[in-house]
Amino acid sequence: MTKIAPSILSANFSKLAEEIREVEAGGADYIHIDVMDGHFVPNITIGPLIVEAVRPVTTLPLDVHLMIENPDQYVPMFAKAGADILTVHAEACTHLHRTIQLIKEHGMKAGVALNPATPIDVVKHILEDIDLILLMTVNPGFGGQNFIPNVLPKIEQISQLIEIRHLSIEVEVDGGINEETARKCVEAGANVLVAGSAIYNQEDRAGAISQIRTTVQA
Ligand code: DX5
Ligand code: ZN
Repeated sequence: MTKIAPSILSANFSKLAEEIREVEAGGADYIHIDVMDGHFVPNITIGPLIVEAVRPVTTLPLDVHLMIENPDQYVPMFAKAGADILTVHAEACTHLHRTIQLIKEHGMKAGVALNPATPIDVVKHILEDIDLILLMTVNPGFGGQNFIPNVLPKIEQISQLIEIRHLSIEVEVDGGINEETARKCVEAGANVLVAGSAIYNQEDRAGAISQIRTTVQA
């Protein structure tokens, strides 16, 4: 079944606990947390401190998306803070295989994210080592951007590769996901949908989640 991961980037940070409980009650599968350092992406958001603060608020897995340079340096801190899935950008890792091992040594699931312009070839030789692949469907840095449709063939390619090799890797998409784009991504093979503005910009968050779910199941 398709999983839905609301991104708290579009939540109201002055009442974050409430915002997280609302999507948990509304049927979310993961809580997606976007970490940005102002170097890898042109925006600064949150760090391990917020992950730690959020950990006791929910029983859902914390899906932490690192958009930072030198991610290796911060792996222990995010593990300690309570991250369940830690995703690093291939573009930010000189020794991607080493970084993945480090994440797993710290007891977390390892994810690799690819920007829209990065071909899936960069993960071909490490697929057996990862738990999740995140295909960015916008350029990372901000919520509320428009979906880039040229990523759809990449979703198909990676999904086929995973199937051929009989692997159980989640294929997550992130950026510009709404009812319409969610359906296209699921048709292409995605099984985890990150949605920030499409959920948090709505009055009724549970309604937004179930609408996305209904659309992709139809
Ligand atoms: C963008 C982040 C996304 C962001 C998605 O760099 O990685 O997770 O929150 O926001 P929407 O769903 O509004 O495009
Ligand atoms: Zn994200």
